[in-house]
Amino acid sequence: MKTRIIGTGSCLPETIVTNDDLSKIMDTSDEWISSRTGIKERRLVKEETTAGMSVQAARMAMENAGISPQEIDLIIVGTITGDYLTPSTACEIQAAIGAKNAVAFDINAACSGFMFALHTADAYFKAGIYKTALVLGAETLSKIMDWNDRSTCVLFGDGAGAVVARADETGLLAYEQGSDGMKGKVLACRDRRNNNPLVQESKEPEYVHMDGQEVYKFAVTTVPASIRKVLDEAGLKAEEIDYFILHQANIRIIQSVAKRLKVAEDRFPISLDHCGNISAASVPILLDEMNRKGLLKQGMKIVLSGFGGGLTWGSAVLEW
Ligand code: COA
Repeated sequence: MKTRIIGTGSCLPETIVTNDDLSKIMDTSDEWISSRTGIKERRLVKEETTAGMSVQAARMAMENAGISPQEIDLIIVGTITGDYLTPSTACEIQAAIGAKNAVAFDINAACSGFMFALHTADAYFKAGIYKTALVLGAETLSKIMDWNDRSTCVLFGDGAGAVVARADETGLLAYEQGSDGMKGKVLACRDRRNNNPLVQESKEPEYVHMDGQEVYKFAVTTVPASIRKVLDEAGLKAEEIDYFILHQANIRIIQSVAKRLKVAEDRFPISLDHCGNISAASVPILLDEMNRKGLLKQGMKIVLSGFGGGLTWGSAVLEW
């Protein structure tokens, strides 16, 4: 039994914030951001919420798949920026769409969140427990950025992406995932303030704190190795893959992965230019953009790969 993606959807906030807009509120420039990251603009929430964007993306994915909310028996959301600690974003989606037969929960694996969620759905399908899942990546990263730290806040954006996955004869051909908690603090964000009167408040930064160069080194070594592993497991060569849909962190990371795999860059589609890095949401949003442009044809072989905080990573080969 394999996991097949039968529908996609996505939702971005309305407000576009360009690099030039950022240069009006901090000491940065379009030239610095574009040349180091490939990012031109990102969408940031004003009224939108993680759950609200997720619900829109989920509805689009269900419509695209042609299924009703009652058919969904599993909802998993990869997110680190839900609106509530409880209920989970997945439970909020369940309530909004009326998926009363579903089991719903969130997964915290930062930028690998969607990949970990997809693999979890796959494990349930293989075990014969569930058959139809809504799998999402959704973030409002703008609320956990340090807007005084120009080296991190310019990189990130907000949005949600969703797929409907179903147990089928073909789909996910191979999967690989990993974690390295020992390096967790190179990309970290402490949880909310401690309200316990017996505990002295921590001095750790409360917003996202990143050692950009360490994260960069991690990404350009781990991601090609992870992709090679799934290709081997699927018995495929890199040149047989139609598209490599990578987490959209930085154009230079993507170019380096392409070079290390000896694959032309044009097989690595990009959304980071207009979305920035949306952590767990970036892979499903890009997948939806490609699906809606009609670029994904039945039988195509696609690699998905996510990587980031934890540290965590996950790659998959799937047949469309
Ligand atoms: N605008 C202008 N200047 C900036 C800036 C900004 N937004 N951010 C940092 N700078 C400055 C720094 O202050 C530093 O100045 P200095 O040399 O006078 O001290 C200079 O630019 C170089 O900073 P540095 O941090 O060394 O830049 P870098 O070349 O390593 O690029 C990143 C920074 C973040 C773009 C790069 O490390 C990277 O892409 N890392 C991966 C991050 C990532 O993708 N994380 C998410 C993974 S899920």
